[in-house]
Amino acid sequence: MPRKPKPAAPGSPTDIEAMIRVDHAGEYGAVRIYEGQLAVLKRRKSAKVETIQHMADQEQRHLQTFDRLVNERRVRPTALEPVWRIAGFALGAVTAAMGEKAAFACTAAVEEVIDEHYAAQVAALKDKDPALKATVEDFRADEAAHRDEALKQGAEQAPGYKLLSETIKAGCRIAIKLSERI
Ligand SMILES: [Fe+2]
Ligand SMILES: [Fe+2]
Repeated sequence: MPRKPKPAAPGSPTDIEAMIRVDHAGEYGAVRIYEGQLAVLKRRKSAKVETIQHMADQEQRHLQTFDRLVNERRVRPTALEPVWRIAGFALGAVTAAMGEKAAFACTAAVEEVIDEHYAAQVAALKDKDPALKATVEDFRADEAAHRDEALKQGAEQAPGYKLLSETIKAGCRIAIKLSERI
């Protein structure tokens, strides 16, 4: 993740900068969540590793794209990167340690919030910045597929699903709000 904050390009709208900053942060968080899950599930030789690795690979593509956008558009990356690095990995590792279904409950919750977040961005962009809009629509389809796969894998059967899911969703919404600004 590039760490060189650069001044905003003249004339670039700050709302689009905030969008790129939060999306970049979110994709980084997603990569770290899946890394945390895989660290635990690989050690346990889980049969779900391949399924989760596929999602992780797609998150890498999302992150690389927003890495590029942050650089090209001279967007200041979130200052919270060290927080998301640790919190993302911990969320993935802790839920995976609770079991495969809890790991998928985490994925379903996170991806539901990201799907909503990207849907709101697509609506807000209207006919502005078609390149960014197309990227967000593309990634949103992946996030929705991750959520659907997690539900198919039995996310809702995780012990304490409702509380786990609501807690993670609330956390993600706070993380989004913070990363837009900070
Ligand atoms: Fe993603
Ligand atoms: Fe995703």
